[in-house]
Amino acid sequence: MMSTLLEMIGCRYPIIQGPIAEMKSPRLTAAVCEAGAFGMLSLGFSNAEETRRLVDGVRELTDKPFGANIMLINPASPEILKILAEAGVKTVTTSTGSPGKIYPLIHDLGMKGLHVLLALSHAMRAASEGADGLIVSGSESGGLRSMGSESSTMVLIPLVADQVKIPVVAAGGAGPGGSGCTDRDAFYSLGRIARTTGLERSHPGLRRRRHDASAPEKHEDARHSQ
Ligand SMILES: Cc1cc2nc3c(=O)[nH]c(=O)nc-3n(C[C@H](O)[C@H](O)[C@H](O)COP(=O)(O)O)c2cc1C
Repeated sequence: MMSTLLEMIGCRYPIIQGPIAEMKSPRLTAAVCEAGAFGMLSLGFSNAEETRRLVDGVRELTDKPFGANIMLINPASPEILKILAEAGVKTVTTSTGSPGKIYPLIHDLGMKGLHVLLALSHAMRAASEGADGLIVSGSESGGLRSMGSESSTMVLIPLVADQVKIPVVAAGGAGPGGSGCTDRDAFYSLGRIARTTGLERSHPGLRRRRHDASAPEKHEDARHSQ
């Protein structure tokens, strides 16, 4: 399974960058690729024009393979996939939706896709609907976790891996039950990373959300110091 996955993503290490919807950074994607992992372009609700600009941005910085995340609730998904295929992207991840309708197109374009999900039943359905691999997110992870993961990473991953015959990639941390991080925690740590690396300068939205995320903690600190 590991060699199938590495063949699919075409990089040295079996590590896939977790796309963060609003963090559309060609610089980060290229840096991940250059480090030997699979850099992902986060596309969120991008349109065709923005997709072209982001893809060109990555290509200027690396000639290594990279992928992109397609949010299936974005109506521009089919158009975006065609642009990615023309640009030579071979593997995408798909999330927030049912894979059934889009996988025939992904395959017609000569691409492979890994579907992101949070429950065993969804995993089995995605496998039967043509997904080439799965990214399974346990309840400890941020982002999609808000939609309610079925179980913790260490329970859900082996359960899914037991039931499907395609590669399964683990997403999300591993922690004691019920102590998953919240989106607020995730944004706060992301913001800190972005600030340290200088990415925040080119992502004012991220700076604003980190600020919002840290606000309740500031209030708490203020209460404690009274
Ligand atoms: C703020 C935020 C936004 C995210 N946006 C996306 C997204 O657009 N598409 C997606 O497939 N996953 C998204 N994710 C999920 C992450 O890519 C990743 O799979 C998940 O956070 C688990 O990894 P982690 O434990 O390293 O956070 C998001 C996560 C966070 C915290």
